[in-house]
Amino acid sequence: MAQPLFKKVAFIGLGLIGSSLARVIQSEQLATCVVASTRSAKTLADAQALGLIQQGYSNPVEAVQDADLVVLALPVRATHAVLAQIQPYLHPDAVLTDVGSTKGNVVEAAKAVFGEALPAGFVPGHPIAGSEHTGVHAGKVDLFANHKVILTPVETSAAWAVDKLIQLWSAAKAEVICMDVQKHDEVLAHTSHLPHLMAFNLVEQLANREDNLDIFRYAAGGFRDFSRIAASDPQMWHDIFFANKTAILNAVEGFEQQLSKIKVLIETEDSHALMGLLGHAQAARQHFNHMLAKKPLMEKNKVTQQFTISPGPKSFTGTFTIPGDKSVSHRSIMFGAIAEGTTHVTGFLEGEDALATLQAFRDMGVSIEGPKNGEVTIHGVGMQGLKAPAGALYMGNSGTSMRLLSGMLSAQKFDSVMTGDASLSKRPMERIAKPLRAMGAHIQTTGEKGTPPVSITGNQALQGIAYDLPMASAQVKSGILLAGLWAQGETSVTEPEPTRDHTERMLRAFGYDVKTEGNKISLQGGGKLVGTNIQVPSDISSAAFFMVGAAICENSDVVLEAVGINPTRTGVIEILKQMGADIAVLNERIAGGEPIADIHIKGSRTLKGIHIPEDQVPLAIDEFPALFIAAACAEGQTVLTGAAELRVKESDRIQVMADGLKIMGIDCTPTADGIIIEGKGKSGDWSAIFNGGQVESHHDHRIAMSFSIAGLRTGGPIEIIGTETVATSFPTFTELANRAGLSITVSQ
Ligand code: S3P
Repeated sequence: MAQPLFKKVAFIGLGLIGSSLARVIQSEQLATCVVASTRSAKTLADAQALGLIQQGYSNPVEAVQDADLVVLALPVRATHAVLAQIQPYLHPDAVLTDVGSTKGNVVEAAKAVFGEALPAGFVPGHPIAGSEHTGVHAGKVDLFANHKVILTPVETSAAWAVDKLIQLWSAAKAEVICMDVQKHDEVLAHTSHLPHLMAFNLVEQLANREDNLDIFRYAAGGFRDFSRIAASDPQMWHDIFFANKTAILNAVEGFEQQLSKIKVLIETEDSHALMGLLGHAQAARQHFNHMLAKKPLMEKNKVTQQFTISPGPKSFTGTFTIPGDKSVSHRSIMFGAIAEGTTHVTGFLEGEDALATLQAFRDMGVSIEGPKNGEVTIHGVGMQGLKAPAGALYMGNSGTSMRLLSGMLSAQKFDSVMTGDASLSKRPMERIAKPLRAMGAHIQTTGEKGTPPVSITGNQALQGIAYDLPMASAQVKSGILLAGLWAQGETSVTEPEPTRDHTERMLRAFGYDVKTEGNKISLQGGGKLVGTNIQVPSDISSAAFFMVGAAICENSDVVLEAVGINPTRTGVIEILKQMGADIAVLNERIAGGEPIADIHIKGSRTLKGIHIPEDQVPLAIDEFPALFIAAACAEGQTVLTGAAELRVKESDRIQVMADGLKIMGIDCTPTADGIIIEGKGKSGDWSAIFNGGQVESHHDHRIAMSFSIAGLRTGGPIEIIGTETVATSFPTFTELANRAGLSITVSQ
């Protein structure tokens, strides 16, 4: 049998935490022998009876002899006295740790006993786990499972000692984090000590009122939730407040300042600012779990959700309202924020990408109400009103947010950093950084290959430029034009081919003069935007999945209402028409400065393969993954060229689609700037085209939705791995697709 991790473990103190760790050591057989010392003979006898220790002592000196792990599991205030007592008897190679909730004072106590040369085995620790029960009987073997344990190695701590403790706590199924002592105490002061202090203090404030009985009697859930932690052990909190005095007093000071802020807002009835503060806090609270859940996705490329689409007889019918346009939603927040006055938005896309933009502007001090049922009210702060965010701006999966904001942030009086998830962290940012630098911006792409994070030192003296865009990119065009709003003189961008023009249209709607002459778009810096009302049309890029679904499925009949048909976005309709789809654009009208229409599409004839005209590529740039599914179901070959940009989207959409199509039995050849797909369709034959199989989305929402639509013509089940990003652009996708006739099961 392998050697256990320790020969002899000595616990000094055996309450909830100590006895739980003893249970782990026994059940995992991590030590040959476990002993403990406590002042209570009964605790020792009980612990022995429970099989937690082999031997108990009243004197810690006896317990630590020959121990190779000593765990101080007693109240922190006793640390100094115990260390002084056991110091002469500690084995020189013993690992010495503790479980206290403050760390600076433990290190101080150790220094007072050992001097500056602390033992190499000394590594303070703090398991962040607990329960309202105390004592040796309350301990549980799984107390630490899925909880965090913070180790705070000091300069003298040896790597072998840290390593052994990591192994120990990992065996308890805890997540081990190493942190600097001071950082630990600061973090805990804010996240644990301050909330406890506030809870005790609020209950005290109310208890001191004469009418306290009424107050407690009628107190509702809010009071109960907020004050729950005031029922904790006063002695323990008394000790912690003293032990972590400096960090706690700093946190209290921060709290007092924040309290004064909200007091003034109420006193002066500053409605916008108060809504801003409350909205910002609410969003932060709502995104709290979400943000934490995002971390692993960002750091480890973890996949968290999958779709399974079952084969079977299908129909695809219904009338649907597709969620709001992503590009327009982003811009409505950005422009509303820097406008003077209020902007009211309807039809806003409540997907993660647009919400990342919304959150970024809240982080820069803009007061935003909503979104609620697609309605957002933005209280613009004007061209000079944005404030420095407290930390990095997290852009999630959204390239649009990062590239457009690169332009805006370059011109601010403050510095900023933008980060993103696994997919965004791989996307090229030099394409926007380069022209911005030519305008005088101080912008760095700090990732490995010109990729995020993007770090910006604000510069209020940008110069306008005339830039020839090397690629057809609306994001780069928009980022430059937005920087141009603050720049000296004229800024112009000439595109190789027309790309979506939402920036130009919406700037005009906000009263800003933007000129378009052929492929050249220009504006003069130094103007201002005036708040307005924006009606966001349904997103044609999301509608595309339903168009393709209906086009490949026999007898389907789908109406998509009020879809944006901006001519820079309608490539998908044109391409599907050329492939022979039965598609009609009805009731064309203008809403909020953008053309919209109802789109009626029927599955009445087999599509045919085509060579996609290159001039349609920028006009359908986001719809190709869906169009590849249409091509696979078409009769004959479809050839796409001039679409190298697809390789730098949320994933390499040429490669990722080709890989998935091949898995599902489609013969296709990816090329440098496109793909050749051998369609398996036969005129009048509506049988299965795809074999089914397991495909990867590579954190790309549109890949996930495209392979879902393939489920309408599959012989075997399709599993799509990593579908969580669907929520970035089309949060109701599975609900609407299933209502139309698909059978998608979502599993976490
Ligand atoms: C967008 C522009 C396009 C598009 C993206 C949204 C925009 O990107 O793919 O989904 O809102 O400006 P590129 O500008 O990189 O082509």
